[in-house]
Amino acid sequence: MIVIGVDGSRAGLRAVNWAMREADMRGAGVRIVNAVPTWAYKAPEDAPYAYAGRLVRESATSVLADALRRAHSQMPRIEVETELLWGDPRLSLIRASKDAELLVVGSHGLDGFRGLLLGSVALGVSGQATCPVVVVREGRAQPRNEVVVGVDGSPGCAAAIEFAFAEADLRGAELHAVHAWGEPVAGFRSEVMPAAIDKAGARRLLLAEVVTGQRERYPDVKLVERIERGHPVDVLRRASTRAGLLVVGSRGRGGVAGMLLGSVSHSLLHHAVCPIVVIPVAGGA
Ligand SMILES: Nc1ncnc2c1ncn2[C@@H]1O[C@H](COP(=O)(O)OP(=O)(O)OP(=O)(O)O)[C@@H](O)[C@H]1O
Ligand SMILES: [Mg+2]
Repeated sequence: MIVIGVDGSRAGLRAVNWAMREADMRGAGVRIVNAVPTWAYKAPEDAPYAYAGRLVRESATSVLADALRRAHSQMPRIEVETELLWGDPRLSLIRASKDAELLVVGSHGLDGFRGLLLGSVALGVSGQATCPVVVVREGRAQPRNEVVVGVDGSPGCAAAIEFAFAEADLRGAELHAVHAWGEPVAGFRSEVMPAAIDKAGARRLLLAEVVTGQRERYPDVKLVERIERGHPVDVLRRASTRAGLLVVGSRGRGGVAGMLLGSVSHSLLHHAVCPIVVIPVAGGA
């Protein structure tokens, strides 16, 4: 089951388009949801705000109906349910996607400040939901059939690699496993670094090692291993400009304990050019 969050925005409908294609490839069912504030959902008939509550519910019902029409017109044969949720949209989307294979949202919604690159709901569910979260943004009209996965050798990235192989296999896409590396400390000069830390060869070995199991499992996927110099956010953002999907783990090696979203994933949610999927790290490791 794929869960899609909509809020009446164009970005939400874009999420519907993306998710319907994905559902078609996976043979998955779809549930489209919209969350309204608790007061509006549960307004008693005699409450002074009962009328306002009814208006909010009616508006949400029409948002769901629009999204359902969009979904049907794109993929008439896929089964789609709609559901009105209540409470904080982030919490209700996380709850609604508890048993889902994917949660799909737009990068923006209706009420965001225009200057922001990402809305609070999109950011709030990424790395917090128990399933992978896809944030769909308007990318290039004709991206290449290419899935990019960011690799840093952390447990989070193992899950991301597994997802990326399965996704590339589904799409018949080329998979680019990209490892970015730079000076571990700003201003540290590479000629004084121990060879094992700083040599590109060691990086290549690491990359080959972490993809090996999945490579055997998906022999048909054409894998391109890329080692690039630079900050992971710059490198992966650049890679996302021509890709169809960017896959990252919710946190990497440098994660601060207790933080569910690492800084690279966080920044890429803001700056990636193509749709991005954040894979949760089991147990918050
Ligand atoms: N109430 C909601 N119910 C279901 N999905 C939602 C809801 N609000 C937002 N979404 C989903 O999240 C996506 C991003 O919207 P978000 O609310 O994060 O951005 P915004 O409205 O621009 O900013 P903000 O709400 O933080 O001011 C939407 O495209 C939609 O997919
Ligand atoms: Mg919003």
